[in-house]
Amino acid sequence: MPPAPPSFGSREYWEKRFTSNSNPFEWLEAPTALDPYLVAALKETTEPELELLHIGCGTSLLSYHLRAHVPNPEHIHNLDYSEVAIEVGRKRERQTSKSPPPDAQEPRSASYMRWSAANLLDYSSLLEACKPSAYSIIVDKSTSDSIACSEDLVVPLPYHITATPNPASNPNLTESPEPLHPLHILGVHLALLTKPKARWISLSYSMDRYPFIPLPPPTPLPARSGTGDASTPAYESEPIPTPTGFPDPSTLWTLIGKYDIEVPQPQSPSGSNGSTTTHRPKVMHWVYVLERTNVKVFARRES
Ligand SMILES: C[S@@+](CC[C@H](N)C(=O)[O-])C[C@H]1O[C@@H](n2cnc3c(N)ncnc32)[C@H](O)[C@@H]1O
Repeated sequence: MPPAPPSFGSREYWEKRFTSNSNPFEWLEAPTALDPYLVAALKETTEPELELLHIGCGTSLLSYHLRAHVPNPEHIHNLDYSEVAIEVGRKRERQTSKSPPPDAQEPRSASYMRWSAANLLDYSSLLEACKPSAYSIIVDKSTSDSIACSEDLVVPLPYHITATPNPASNPNLTESPEPLHPLHILGVHLALLTKPKARWISLSYSMDRYPFIPLPPPTPLPARSGTGDASTPAYESEPIPTPTGFPDPSTLWTLIGKYDIEVPQPQSPSGSNGSTTTHRPKVMHWVYVLERTNVKVFARRES
C-alpha cells in the first residue's frame, strides 16, 4: 500500500515539522515571487500606513522580504498556527536586525514586525490576534493550499460573523446542516479583518483554488472526429452552497487577477548515449489576486 500523504491540514503536522527543522523553508516559490502583485497593490492604495497580514508564514524568508515593501516593519503582521514557527521567526528577526551604530548617542529603539500564533479557521483564536477591518493586504504563500487540505467543518449558526448586524436565529438550525469547506470559512474570516478594496494575494499550486470564486465560462473541448462534443466544458466546478446565517464568501471577494508562473524543469541527467528526456509536462503555479468588495460583515455579539 502506498504511504499515506502528509496531513498538510493538521496543526500537529506543521508543529512537528518546524520542531524537527526550523531552518528557512520555501513552499512553491522564492520570497520574491509575489513582488509584482504586492507592488501593484501598494501603488493603488492611498493609505499612508497600511497594515499587511502575512498568513501561514511558516519559516519562509518572505516575512523578512516584506520589510522591503513597507516603511515601518510594525505594519507587517506574520501569523501562523505553529507556535514553533512564530517563535523561530520572531527570534530570527531580532538576531538579524541591524544593531545601532557603536557611536550612536541614544540607543535606537528597533522596530520589529508583529508575530502571532493563531488559527485562521478558529474565530476566537484569530480575533485575539487581529483587529477587524484593519488590513489592506493579505499575503498568502501556499497557506490556502494547506487549509484546503483540512477537514470541512460544521459551524454554529448564525455564525460569529454575519452579513447583517442582528441576524434572526432559527432554533431549528443552530449549526450548519453540512460541514463547510475550510476555504469558505477562511474567506469569511479574512473579510472581517480587511478593509474594502483590500487585496488578498495568494500563491497556489492549484488552478482552481477557491471554491467560492466562479470559474470563467467553460472552454469548449476541440471536437474530435466522430465522437467529441464541442460543448463539453474542459473542467467544471460546482459552487458550494452556504447555509442561511453564514455569509456567502463569493459576495465578499472578487477575483481581479489570476496569473500563472511556470515552474522551471529539473535538469534531466544525460543518458549513456548522451540523450536527454525532453517531453515533461509543464508544471504551473498560480497567483490569485482577490479584492475585498464593499459588502460589510459584522462580528456578532456572543450572548
Ligand atoms: C504550505 S506551508 C507555507 C509556509 C510559507 N508560507 C511558505 O511559503 O513557505 C502552510 C503554512 O500554513 C500554516 N497553516 C496551515 N493552516 C493554518 C491555519 N488554520 N491557521 C494558521 N496557519 C495555518 C502552516 O503552519 C504552514 O506554516
